[in-house]
Amino acid sequence: MRIGITSVSNVLEEWNAKDVEDLRRAIVSSGNVPEMIYADSMDISLSDGEIGATQSSERASGASSGRIKIRSDAILLRHLGTIRDYEQFTFRLFGMKSFEEKGIYVMNPVMNWLVATDKFGALVKLSARGLPVPETVVSEHMFVAYSAVKRFKEVVVKPLRSAMGFGVFRVSDPDVAMHSFSTLTNMNKPIYVQKYMEKKGGGDYRVVVVGGEIVGAEFRKGKTWKSNVAQGAVPKGVKADKELSELAIRSCEVLGLDYAGIDIADTDEGYRILETNPTLSWQGFKKATGINPAKCIVAQIIRKAKE
Ligand SMILES: Nc1ncnc2c1ncn2[C@@H]1O[C@H](COP(=O)(O)OP(=O)(O)O)[C@@H](O)[C@H]1O
Ligand SMILES: [Mg+2]
Repeated sequence: MRIGITSVSNVLEEWNAKDVEDLRRAIVSSGNVPEMIYADSMDISLSDGEIGATQSSERASGASSGRIKIRSDAILLRHLGTIRDYEQFTFRLFGMKSFEEKGIYVMNPVMNWLVATDKFGALVKLSARGLPVPETVVSEHMFVAYSAVKRFKEVVVKPLRSAMGFGVFRVSDPDVAMHSFSTLTNMNKPIYVQKYMEKKGGGDYRVVVVGGEIVGAEFRKGKTWKSNVAQGAVPKGVKADKELSELAIRSCEVLGLDYAGIDIADTDEGYRILETNPTLSWQGFKKATGINPAKCIVAQIIRKAKE
C-alpha cells in the first residue's frame, strides 16, 4: 500500500520534519511505501467522472520539472500549509476532500480534522456533548470581549488557530486588553476570550489517543503559565487516570478523530479540555514517555484503509 503524508513546502517543515521522518520509518517498516504530498503544490483535475491528482515533481521527488501523479491508497493529513487567502484555503481543503470522494481513507478525516484544529470549532462540539471546557466567549465585537474580561476577571486571549503557545496572552485589565481587541477588530479577526484557570501542578496533560485507545500521556510543567514545550515547559511521562483517559477518548469520539493529542488541565473546577490536536507533534512526548506514536498511527491508517 502507498501511504501519503501531507506536508508543506515552507518553514513549517522544519519543526514538522522529525514527525514526518518517524511516520516514513513506520510506513516502511510496516512493509508499505510512503509518498510525500504537498498540499500547497497539488493539482486536481475532473474529467469524465474521474478525479485526478498531481503535484510538482521537484517537491515530491527532487527530480526533473513537471507534474507527477499522486498515487496514495491512504493519506495521513498533517498540514495544508500557510493559508493567506480564503479561496486558497478552500481549494486545498476540497482538494484533500477529493481523495475521500474517491474512496481513499484520509486520516484524520478532512472535515473532522478541520473542526478539531480550530480552537473554537472543537470547543463548541465538545461543549455541546457535555464535555468540560473552560468558559469561553468568541466575538467580533470588542465591547463584548471587553465585558468578558470584566466578568472573568482574568482571561487568556488566543488566536483561533495558534500553535505552541505563540500569540496566546493572559490579561486581567479590560482596558489594557481593549488595545489588542481594537487591533484584532481592525484586522477583521474574531476575538477569543477564555476564563483563565489556575492549573494544579503548574502545567497540563497531553493525552495521546490512537484508534480510540490511550497510547500514553505526559504532564507538561510550564516555566510560565503556558505549558507548551516550545515555551520551555518540561514534559514528563505519566499514567493518565481513569477520568483523564475517558475525557481524551471521548473527545476523539465526539470529534471523529483516529488520532490526536488532547490537552487537559486539572483545575479547581475539575478537568478542563483546553484544545485538541489532530496533527500532533510528538518529539517531546517521545522523549518523555519513550513511546513513538508514529507506529500506532501507521497501524491505525492501515487498519482503516482495509475496512
Ligand atoms: N483557559 C486557560 N487557563 C489557563 N491556562 C491556559 C488556558 N488556555 C490555555 N492555557 C495555557 O496556555 C497554553 C497555550 O494555549 P493553547 O490553547 O494550548 O494554545 P496553543 O495551540 O498555542 O498551544 C496551554 O499550554 C495552557 O497551559
Ligand atoms: Mg496547546
